[in-house]
Parts: sequence; structure tokens; C-alpha cells
Amino acid sequence: KKTAAVVLAAGSGKRMGTSVHKQYLLIKGKPVIYYTLRAFELSEVDEIILVTGSDEIDYCSREIVEKYNFQKVRAVIAGGKERYDSVYEGLKALSDCDYVLIHDGARPLISSVLINANISCVQEKEACITAVPAKDTIKVVDNKGYVADTPERSKLWQIQTPQTFSYALVSEAYRKRAEAGDTTVTDDAMVVEKYADHSIYLLKGDYRNIKITTPEDLVIAEAFLNGGDNR
Ligand code: CTP
Ligand code: MG
Repeated sequence: KKTAAVVLAAGSGKRMGTSVHKQYLLIKGKPVIYYTLRAFELSEVDEIILVTGSDEIDYCSREIVEKYNFQKVRAVIAGGKERYDSVYEGLKALSDCDYVLIHDGARPLISSVLINANISCVQEKEACITAVPAKDTIKVVDNKGYVADTPERSKLWQIQTPQTFSYALVSEAYRKRAEAGDTTVTDDAMVVEKYADHSIYLLKGDYRNIKITTPEDLVIAEAFLNGGDNR
């Protein structure tokens, strides 16, 4: 069975606010995306599609893929305006694969162990997403800034990536989202929830698998990487 990964690096990192997009900021002298790709390179994934900005393709090809000799990166392609556009471009660049992992390039603490766990899981479940139990109480808030509701914490999970699916299932769901022009989806599972008829299994993730989003996340990521995480 052939398994591919779509690694997303086409965002502009508005919440980070740096001129260099966050996935290319250096941690311990290497770009964030280097750590992400290394984990996939060391995993059981067969090939990787790296999705980036149209004017970052040359930089990625030379300064990341060639420089660090990532053998599994089959293509570096341009993403789109929204995350779901970038995912769709990545899926269209693939063919003849059985399973696909979709992963945020901005999660460099992903480990090859967790990637391999996704690959084992999807073979049984067809659709699985990486998640950890919510630690904080989460409130639903009304549009005036007051509490509207408090969902039971024990039922709430924070969703990470990889999100892993049978290729046929997820690519058809993404095709339907595009056809519908739906702009409300915020993760890959939501596309499958709305445009496919298949249950999605939650695979226990890792609290260290943070998404680099705001400046303080860089401090946390560096501490984890110093501790030897991400293998
Ligand atoms: N992403 C992408 N294409 C987009 C938007 C996001 O490939 N049009 C990628 C980002 O590069 C990141 C991942 O999706 O690896 C998760 O998105 P997010 O953390 O929201 O990154 P940004 O959109 O870059 O950041 P922000 O929302 O703060 O602008
Ligand atoms: Mg974003």
C-alpha cells in the first residue's frame, strides 16, 4: 500500500507577524520546516508533496530539499489562498496512492513514531485524526462577549495533524467542498464530516506536537527540540 504525505507550508503566518513566514524561521539554526520534513523522511511514508507559496518554491527546492537531501520529497508545489485550497492542490498532485497524511508544516515537533501510528491506524479505520484531550475548560461565547455555554470538558479534544485518510475518500470530499464553494471548514476532518459519509477515529497524539502560531511558541519548540524530541 502506498502512503503519501501532503506537508503544508503555504501560509503567511499573520499571527506570528514576522516578515519571514513562520515555517521558515530558524530554530537552533535550522528552518521550522526542516524538522517537519525530517520526521516524515524518517517515517514509513513513501513520498511527500511539499506545498508552499508560489514565490517560495525555488527557496524550498534549493535551500531545504536539496540542502538537507530529503529523498522522499517528490514535488514542491504552489498552494492557495486558504489552507483548504493548499490541501486540495496537494491532493491533486498525487495519484495512485492509497493513503494520505495531511500535516501542518508549522508543527515541527511531529515524530516519526506518531506518523507511523497514523499509517497503521488508517489501514484499519480509513479516516483518523491526531488529537489530545483538552486541558483547559472551553466556553462558547456569544457575539457580545458573554458566556453562552460550557461544553463538558471530558468530551472535548484538541485536534492536531497529521489527519490521515484513504486517498479516494479525502480527495473526493475536497473536490465536493471546492464545488460547493464552502469557506467554513477549518480542518481536514471537517471536510470529510461534511462531504463524505465515513466515521473519523481519534488517534491519541502528543502534547508536544504544538503548532507554531505566535512568538511564544518558538520558545517552547526550541525547548522541546533541545530535549531531543522530534525523531
Ligand atoms: N497553510 C497553507 N496554505 C494556506 C494557509 C495555511 O499551506 N493558505 C499552512 C500553514 O503554512 C501552516 C498550516 O497550514 O503550516 C496551518 O495553518 P496556520 O497555523 O493557520 O498558518 P498560517 O495561516 O500561515 O498562519 P496565520 O493563520 O496566523 O496567518
Ligand atoms: Mg491560518
